[in-house]
Amino acid sequence: MSQMERVSMTIETELLEQFDRLRRQRGHRNRSEALRDLIRRALVEQRWEQGRGPVVGTLTVVYDHTNRHISKQIVAAGHAHEGLVSATLHIHLNRKYCLEVMALKGDPQDVRDFADTILGAKGVLHGDLVMTTMGDLT
Ligand code: NI
Repeated sequence: MSQMERVSMTIETELLEQFDRLRRQRGHRNRSEALRDLIRRALVEQRWEQGRGPVVGTLTVVYDHTNRHISKQIVAAGHAHEGLVSATLHIHLNRKYCLEVMALKGDPQDVRDFADTILGAKGVLHGDLVMTTMGDLT
């Protein structure tokens, strides 16, 4: 376990009540655990914003496979960003739609560009990029 520090803080009562409701909803056992989670989220965000890599994330997309353009575009984007896609999970949802989850690793801007290319393509019904950490945060 990492070395720990004890801190005390001042916070408005109403804000603390809202925080306690949020942490209970999210399943955090105590305030310390919830606060550490929020700090890690902020650090992950900052790392992505600063553009320092490598970073990891997942791109989830639901697309209409009957639109041939999007299937080709996903393959082309993968080849254009060689080495960025570590793995792909593909599920045929129904006659029309496919769900694809891609594990991405690379420079933050490359990952964002790849995700934007796919999410902005015609035929994509829904999708999102989840930005996470390589595990180098405490
Ligand atoms: Ni499919």
